[in-house]
Amino acid sequence: MTLSAPTIRLRKRRNGADPLVMVTAYDEPGARLVAAGGVDLILVGDSVANVMLGQETTLNLSVEQMSHHVRAVAAARAGVHIVADMPWLSYHVDVAESVRNAAALIRSGADSVKLEGGRVRRDVVRALLDAQIPVMGHLGLTPQSVLTFGGFKVQAKTLESAKLLIEDAQLLQEEGVFAIVIEGVPSVVGSHVTAALEIPTIGIGAGPDTDGQVLVFHDLLGLTNRAPAKFVRQYANLGPAITEAVSQFAADVRRGDFPNADEAYANPEGLFD
Ligand code: KIV
Repeated sequence: MTLSAPTIRLRKRRNGADPLVMVTAYDEPGARLVAAGGVDLILVGDSVANVMLGQETTLNLSVEQMSHHVRAVAAARAGVHIVADMPWLSYHVDVAESVRNAAALIRSGADSVKLEGGRVRRDVVRALLDAQIPVMGHLGLTPQSVLTFGGFKVQAKTLESAKLLIEDAQLLQEEGVFAIVIEGVPSVVGSHVTAALEIPTIGIGAGPDTDGQVLVFHDLLGLTNRAPAKFVRQYANLGPAITEAVSQFAADVRRGDFPNADEAYANPEGLFD
């Protein structure tokens, strides 16, 4: 059964809850397979730009592109809560426009939206919740900040910046977000921010103490051509398996071994005449 945002909000490990498991998906087969694997949430991440569209950053993605992928994921009807990332600049310029953009993702099949940033996002979070759209936060190494960070760098490495991150998380909680992704921070920060909140944290490169963990589909399955980040555990190496299957198909076609009689439609009586 699909977990609702209010149900997810209660999933604190310190209260005895099981850790939340979230994996990204960007299309129907991905969503179907990930759901069959027993995840609690599917994230239609703007990492689609990196792992599906071959881009270095997530900065060129539009709401229309995200909606297209959300619709494909929702088509799996997998009974899993779908979180849709709000693309860069879809919630930065104007609050009313942000609500319309989030609504487009909800109408495409998302159950909630995720956006990056802390105190500067208070107004937009409030407006989305006023429009009855559940919001997940995202703090730490927020990939949409790559230019101001000067690269994809671990964040909250000083006491001051760690305190700011925890304050940001508390402000987002006060505004009513139901969970927060914490990405790319020292484990001690992941641990402290989780302890400081009543809502669950979902970590990626934030150590073992968050209330859940998220990985990108292509990283988990060995489908990227980049060196995996430190925090990635690769559970399968499907890239070489796919290449091997395709090369066997190519060899069979070239040898005249494909298709065989069983793989072709029978000829109706009299067609040869
Ligand atoms: O877009 C994405 O996949 C994400 C995860 C890294 C949390 O935001």
